[in-house]
Amino acid sequence: MTDTASLKVQALVLAAGKGTRMKSARAKVLHPALGVPLLEHVLRAATGAGAKPVLVVVGHQAAAVEAAFAGRDLEFVRQDPPLGTGHALQAAQARLARNAERTLLVLNGDLPLLRAATLVALLEAHRRDGAAATLLSAVLAAPGAYGRVVRDPTGAVRAVVEARDASAEQRALREINAGIYAFEVGPLLQALSGLRPQNAQGEYYLTDLIGLLAAAGHRVSAFAAPDPQQTLGVNSQAELAEAGRLLRERRLAELMAEGACIEDPATTWVGLDAQVEADAVIRPFTVLEGRSVVRQGASVGPFSRLVDSEVGPGALVLDHCLLRESVVGAGAQVGPFAHVRPESVIGAAAKVGNFVELKKTRLGEGSKAPHLSYLGDAWIGPKVNVGAGTITCNYDGVHKHPTRIEAGAFIGSDTTLVAPVTIGEGAYIGAGSTITEDVPPHALALARARQVVRPDWVRRRRAAQRKEKA
Ligand code: UD1
Ligand code: CA
Repeated sequence: MTDTASLKVQALVLAAGKGTRMKSARAKVLHPALGVPLLEHVLRAATGAGAKPVLVVVGHQAAAVEAAFAGRDLEFVRQDPPLGTGHALQAAQARLARNAERTLLVLNGDLPLLRAATLVALLEAHRRDGAAATLLSAVLAAPGAYGRVVRDPTGAVRAVVEARDASAEQRALREINAGIYAFEVGPLLQALSGLRPQNAQGEYYLTDLIGLLAAAGHRVSAFAAPDPQQTLGVNSQAELAEAGRLLRERRLAELMAEGACIEDPATTWVGLDAQVEADAVIRPFTVLEGRSVVRQGASVGPFSRLVDSEVGPGALVLDHCLLRESVVGAGAQVGPFAHVRPESVIGAAAKVGNFVELKKTRLGEGSKAPHLSYLGDAWIGPKVNVGAGTITCNYDGVHKHPTRIEAGAFIGSDTTLVAPVTIGEGAYIGAGSTITEDVPPHALALARARQVVRPDWVRRRRAAQRKEKA
């Protein structure tokens, strides 16, 4: 990528529209594609191209959009009510005048495939041509509902005509307007006052600025996107799914190029911010969400899901596991059918087996909980054996209480640990115990009823019953 700082660029992202075609109560730009809101994709492209400041026009569900991006280096401009993409620019014009020397990128908020490099190339073309406005165009086999780029016989851009307002002849044009523009602010501000809502939708169209600038004798260019896929605009649920699919394939291709083994890309979902290191294996039907990381030599799946979780080098997460906000140490093994809830840490070479649930629990290095357990709010040292069916009773109906199991302890099967409770180092708990008091190091604790055996009891009872009937 070239040095973008020297281009002195700012950005205005349009995110105020209703998104009517989504048929959804949620603002369109907040719908996620590959786990990240549509608007986030566009903001990353703008920032990646060196734009500063980045302004966002909000209107429909403005508060929700602002809240979703609170704390970010953005400036919000309200457009209320939204009366079209051109009106969105009008809403921001006072703000734009403040940095009039900076070339302005104007970006629709519904373009999740857009990449920073494409914006840089657009800006370079804009500068090379000395244009007042340059739009990104793409030539599509099926131009559908996109605005059409109208050129004169010399090839110069004359206007953009919306599909709804186009003549049959114009609709046959296959060069479309992607909704991505570079403008010089001076001529833009002049042209803005010329917009009129005289079209099929009764809106102020940003795209009319192209015709207005051209008619005023300004140079207007179109830069053809090297990769038309990046111009996919999301207007409906079907287009959202299509964008998600393309993003998913793109992300998987990147990971594979860096050495990750994705056994079945068709059934694997790796979110935009999830990482798979080289030589890690992702088995079919696996989902990696949020900031999940799978380290070198680890394997996850089939049919497992990580949310904001890390799987250490060489670790194994087997079939049908769900892990959230947790860490699996190097060489550890989890599953099949394990549920690891937030703030759990599974130590190196530890083992969490089938039908084991962990919550806010640290399982020490080399420790094992191989079958059917609930371990919540527990600190478990290294080399501990947690027998099948062990339960930490961490909740008394009002408060949560901790359990502590020191190094090398052995917890017999079907033990109930009533928290708060501490099991000392190397202690031994007999199977079936209900432990309510701390157990000192190296002690044996047995807390269950003594077994009673009555020899011949069954035979004697049957004999007594026979006598009664006779
Ligand atoms: C727009 C272009 C069209 C182009 C297409 C590319 C116009 C008039 N048309 O059409 O030429 O081919 O994008 O995808 O610009 N928005 C506001 N305020 C508003 C209305 C919309 O901020 O009052 C925002 C929306 O939230 C959205 C973006 O502007 O992020 C584009 O709006 P949308 O209604 O999706 O425009 P298109 O019909 O797709
Ligand atoms: Ca759109």
